[in-house]
Amino acid sequence: MTHTIFVTGASGKLGRAVVTHLIDTFGVVPSRIIAGTRNPEKLADLATRGIAIRKIDFDDPASLASGFSDAGTVLVISTDALDGAGTRLRQHKAAIAAAAKAGARRLAYASLPKADTSHVSFAPDHLGSEDAVKATGLPYLIFRNSWYAENLFMSLPQAFKTGQWYSAAGEGRTAFVARDDIAAAIAGALANPPAGSATYTLTGSQAFSNGEIAAMASSTVGKPIQVVNLTDDQLAGGMKAAGVPDAVIPTLVSFDTATRQGDLAMVTGDVEKLSGRAPATLRTFLAANASALAG
Ligand SMILES: NC(=O)c1ccc[n+]([C@@H]2O[C@H](COP(=O)([O-])OP(=O)(O)OC[C@H]3O[C@@H](n4cnc5c(N)ncnc54)[C@H](OP(=O)(O)O)[C@@H]3O)[C@@H](O)[C@H]2O)c1
Repeated sequence: MTHTIFVTGASGKLGRAVVTHLIDTFGVVPSRIIAGTRNPEKLADLATRGIAIRKIDFDDPASLASGFSDAGTVLVISTDALDGAGTRLRQHKAAIAAAAKAGARRLAYASLPKADTSHVSFAPDHLGSEDAVKATGLPYLIFRNSWYAENLFMSLPQAFKTGQWYSAAGEGRTAFVARDDIAAAIAGALANPPAGSATYTLTGSQAFSNGEIAAMASSTVGKPIQVVNLTDDQLAGGMKAAGVPDAVIPTLVSFDTATRQGDLAMVTGDVEKLSGRAPATLRTFLAANASALAG
C-alpha cells in the first residue's frame, strides 16, 4: 500500500533535494509527501507544489508530539549540531521516538560509512541513531552517506590560493559523491522501498587519495597544488595557528584520521542501484565547479 513519505530537515540542502527528486525523478504525487522543517517559510515553493509542510524542530518536544501525525515512512536527516556535548544524538533519538510513537510504518536515517568503527569524531552519534532506529522494531532504511564532493569546497579553494594542501590523510582514499546523487538514491529508495529493512552505503564510483585529487584538480583548474603530508598533531597545530576555533579542531582532524584509516574509501553500487543513474565522477564534479574551486 502507499503511505506518506515524511522528510525532516527539508529546507537543508540534502532534504530539499530528496523532496525534489521524489516528485520530479520518481513521480511521487506531492500529496504523499510531508516536508518537516524548523522554518516552514523557507519551503513556500514546495507548498505551492502541493506538499504538506510541518514545523518540526528536534529540540522542540511540542513540534515532535504533533508533527509526525499521518507519517508513513519517516526519513530523519541528521542535524548539524556538532557541539561535542551529545546534542545531536539526543535530537535524533527524540525525533525517532516521536515518529515511532505517532505510528510511522518505516524509519529511514542518513548516517555515515562504517558508523560502527569509523574514526570520524561524531560517528558514535550516527551509530547511536542507527541503533535507536533499529530498537523501534520498525522496518528501516539506513543510508550511510560517503563524503559529499561538495566538501572539497572546504579545502581546495584554500589549497589553490596557497598552492599547498595540508593533509594528514596520507594515502587514504575517499569515495566522494555529489550530494545530489545521494539525494536521488535516497529518494529512489523511499519511493520504491525494498521489503523489510536495508542498510546502504552511498558512495562515488571510485575512491581517490588527496594526492590523486590534487593532481586531478590541478589539471582541471590549470593551477598546481602540492599536498603537504602532516601528522594529526601537526595538522591540529597548523589549524590552531591559522585561528581555527579549538572546539572544532579535533573534529576536522578526525576527518583526515578516518580517511587515512580507510573509513571513507568504500565503493558500492548502491547509488546507481537506488537512483537508476551512475553517480557523477569526481572528474566531472571538478570540471563543473572549476571556477568556484579555484578560489
Ligand atoms: N556526508 C557528508 O559529507 C556530509 C557533509 C555535511 C553534512 N552532512 C550531514 O548531512 C546532513 C544534511 O546535509 P546538508 O548538506 O543538507 O546540510 P545543511 O544544508 O547544513 O542542513 C542542515 C540540516 O540539519 C537540519 N537541522 C538542524 N537542526 C535541526 C533541528 N533542531 N531539528 C530538525 N532538523 C534540524 C536542518 O533542517 P531545517 O533547517 O530544514 O530545519 C537541515 O536539514 C547535515 O545536517 C549533516 O548531519 C553530511
